[in-house]
Amino acid sequence: MRSLVKNPFLLTFLPLLIFLLSNTFASADLINRICELTNDPSLCSNSFRSDPRSTNANLTILGRISIKNAQKSAKVAKKLIHKASKSGNYTECLSIYDDAISNLKKCKKAFKSHDYGQLSTLVSGAMTDASMCDGSFGRGVQGPPQLKFASIKLQVLCNIILVISNVLSGITTFK
Ligand SMILES: *[C@@H]1O[C@H](CO)[C@@H](O)[C@H](O)[C@H]1NC(C)=O
Ligand SMILES: *[C@@H]1O[C@H](CO)[C@@H](O)[C@H](O)[C@H]1NC(C)=O
Repeated sequence: MRSLVKNPFLLTFLPLLIFLLSNTFASADLINRICELTNDPSLCSNSFRSDPRSTNANLTILGRISIKNAQKSAKVAKKLIHKASKSGNYTECLSIYDDAISNLKKCKKAFKSHDYGQLSTLVSGAMTDASMCDGSFGRGVQGPPQLKFASIKLQVLCNIILVISNVLSGITTFK
């Protein structure tokens, strides 16, 4: 310890190092605390960790990232539907996803203005849309499996937004 304290380099940088490390852990912990409240914690934490801005991010930043991820995912699903349209009638499914994309776009504004009631309504709408598309191919008709996966993923990403919204509005408290 003596030699450590005598080392001027360490003396200067050790506090900084500890500060940086504790910040990193605090953020990782925040992601874990959010994700364990969702219905798919591992997809949740992967979705955050694929975005470098989630490092050291607080709830506001993580909320923005989660909305952006859901928007991206809805657009990916819409592309899949476009592809599938060659082999079936996906008119209804397309308009359902247009509605989901429009709901998620409005989420950004509701989040920015801390309107968590409106945010929940919009996110729940997008989740319902995603699940409705699956049932819109007609009785007994299965859509493409990638679309089914995209729909489930979108619902998990929406679930993350709801969790963050509920924590920020005080409806949910962390364990
Ligand atoms: C997160 O940080 C931003 C700016 O750094 C701040 O405006 C915002 O209020 C913070 N959010 C929370 C939930 O602390
Ligand atoms: C596709 O389905 C929509 C409604 O689900 C219907 O209005 C439309 O006529 C159908 N198109 C074709 C080509 O069958």
